[in-house]
Amino acid sequence: MKRRNFIRNTGFAAAAMAIAPAAKVFAGTADTKVRLAIIGVGARGQNHLDLILRRDDVELVAICEIEERALTIAKEMITKSGKKMPQVFTGDVNAWKKLLEIKGLDGVLIVTPWELHKPMIMGALDAGIKYVGTEVILGITLEDHWDVVKAAEKNNAHVMMMENVCYRRDVMAVLNMVRQGMFGEIIHLQGGYQHDLREVKFNDGVNMYGHGVEFGEKAYSEAHWRTEHSVHRNGDLYPTHGIGPIAHYANINRGNRFLSLCSFSSKARGLHNHIVKQGGESHPNAKVNFKLGDVVTTSINCANGETILLQHDTNLPRPYSLGFRVQGTEGLWMDVNKSIYIQEKSARAHQWDDAKTWLDKYDHPLWQRWSKDTEGAGHGGMDFFVIHAFVESIKRKTPTPMDVYDAATWSSITPLSERSIELGNQTVEVPDFTGGQWMYRKPVFSLNDSY
Ligand SMILES: NC(=O)c1ccc[n+]([C@@H]2O[C@H](COP(=O)([O-])OP(=O)(O)OC[C@H]3O[C@@H](n4cnc5c(N)ncnc54)[C@H](O)[C@@H]3O)[C@@H](O)[C@H]2O)c1
Repeated sequence: MKRRNFIRNTGFAAAAMAIAPAAKVFAGTADTKVRLAIIGVGARGQNHLDLILRRDDVELVAICEIEERALTIAKEMITKSGKKMPQVFTGDVNAWKKLLEIKGLDGVLIVTPWELHKPMIMGALDAGIKYVGTEVILGITLEDHWDVVKAAEKNNAHVMMMENVCYRRDVMAVLNMVRQGMFGEIIHLQGGYQHDLREVKFNDGVNMYGHGVEFGEKAYSEAHWRTEHSVHRNGDLYPTHGIGPIAHYANINRGNRFLSLCSFSSKARGLHNHIVKQGGESHPNAKVNFKLGDVVTTSINCANGETILLQHDTNLPRPYSLGFRVQGTEGLWMDVNKSIYIQEKSARAHQWDDAKTWLDKYDHPLWQRWSKDTEGAGHGGMDFFVIHAFVESIKRKTPTPMDVYDAATWSSITPLSERSIELGNQTVEVPDFTGGQWMYRKPVFSLNDSY
């Protein structure tokens, strides 16, 4: 079979499954209670904790947190929920290792600073835990990503990166449209992380967002650790919210793969200007030299001929937007202007339709079924689905819908973009973490209304 036909056929298979009743796809549903633990209950960990406490199919066995304020909030949340207080591990930076010694844990969620994900994932796999959910991103270096892939394979375990944007309602409706061929053959994709994080990267050590220009030891939450990455690294530091949905549109690791990428970085002004504006010229942080360019742009090419443009833009004033664009031989979606155009189907030639009509019509079966349960869940409800998928996979003892190969491939964009920039914008190869299996693997993400 010619490669292009093969890819197209896997797309059709996915489309066909998208409308298949869940009962036919899964052999059976287990009613067992899943025994989970969470490492890190800071800002994001508390979101996950909230969703877990709402579920009757999860027993929260343990939490680990080293920061007093976050731990207090988490304990209050648990008490308020009426659920049993789990074992609490705290006191030192290695307390999580003791948590992993608990017998009979079905899964663990890792919601800590980026640099701790890899050691904690490896620790969980070594401890024999078969389902490991990690917040974005998987690791720091390319070697980290290989290590995690190899450890997951060796232990026959599932590592799922909790990439929630893949479940955003418009993103999923567009996935439904892609799978039904509405845009024709996919040609070009865009996305990124375009979020003014200046008030996340700096605070006063008391408030989580803003009110000061401290980072590191004197700061709280993400400003405590995330900002250091902007001091020392230049690349696309947070690719997964953009590349996750794009990877599903393009069947990456499932009939297609990233071949190579090339990154460019702009000058760095935003963080310095923010410090001077908020803290004055004489603030010690005004002397810090930030390595991270304000806008980092990465081009990726795919085995099946698509191109991808990915942007990382977190240091300048701007409204939030992930900047998605999905373009095929028949038309395109752009999320910034919330519009869709499909030739011969849109109301007027050469003019945008309001995307809403299309997105409502192609609302994904998952959202149709579960939207009531998403009420109050973070990020407009999409956070519900990522926890739901993790828990349901454990209950059914099936692979997670996003696996270790997806996590490694998407996360590898960070060290590869750093390398490309370091080499004067050279094109670098993206490794095939699947070891050639990308040619045979079929799309599995959200094929029905189950999870
Ligand atoms: N998917 C999303 O939408 C989303 C949103 C926000 C954050 N995140 C990700 O979630 C992760 C955590 O981010 P956050 O915003 O919660 O940061 P945070 O700093 O608020 O929370 C991290 C927590 O980990 C704890 N921690 C640090 N070292 C530890 C250790 N050795 N043992 C136990 N706990 C430890 C910290 O005390 C802190 O409370 C990051 O990977 C971030 O990128 C994802």
